[in-house]
Amino acid sequence: MFSLTGADMVGRILGCGDGPASFNAEATRRGNKVVSCDPIYTFSSSDIKARIAATYEQVIEQARQNQNEFVWEAITSVEELGQIRMAAMEAFLDDYPAGMIEGRYLNLQLPSLPFPDGDFDLALCSHLLFLYSRQLDEAFHHFSLLELCRVAKEVRVFPLFALGGAISPHLDGSVEMLRAAGHQVSIHRVNYEFQRGACEMLRIQRADG
Ligand SMILES: C[S@@+](CC[C@H](N)C(=O)[O-])C[C@H]1O[C@@H](n2cnc3c(N)ncnc32)[C@H](O)[C@@H]1O
Repeated sequence: MFSLTGADMVGRILGCGDGPASFNAEATRRGNKVVSCDPIYTFSSSDIKARIAATYEQVIEQARQNQNEFVWEAITSVEELGQIRMAAMEAFLDDYPAGMIEGRYLNLQLPSLPFPDGDFDLALCSHLLFLYSRQLDEAFHHFSLLELCRVAKEVRVFPLFALGGAISPHLDGSVEMLRAAGHQVSIHRVNYEFQRGACEMLRIQRADG
């Protein structure tokens, strides 16, 4: 999703809206330094596990009903998607208690993060900004992107599509706002496409980064 190289992973990384995904667990195992923030980290491991179990069938049924919105290549079926997602969530749940103690999972949410300026080398945000364009308005996107640029020297966001399969209506305004704030903004094609057509990420390099 983010075309990450070994060099990208060297510094301190913020995962914003990481949810019950395995990025932090896997990166930590490789010796990288990742902090994840998400409002779901207010809940205990058993609460999150119960919620995942309770919503699993519904999530899979939604994917089945909207099958033509996705590219079934790397992942070949709804069943395989379910298995991959569950494996990622299991890896997250295994790591969550230790990660909580180590301060790697923080109950924080955009648009305001309590980190000092430039605390992170890279901030990553997947499947939150732009994807939930109907639920999160353009002002929320602007505040959140500026906040991510404040706390990290570089920010990457994926995907640029909203739910439903079209480019987010907040993208152009956000790019214009970030450029007006002096940041360097570019859009890059990545080697990942699951939501059909959504194969680009936004890269923002801080004005003074
Ligand atoms: C669809 S999930 C994406 C999880 C993960 N990034 C991925 O790509 O698989 C969206 C996540 O954003 C989190 N979220 C919702 N509002 C947020 C906010 N204001 N700030 C940070 N995270 C938020 C949700 O709790 C959820 O875990």
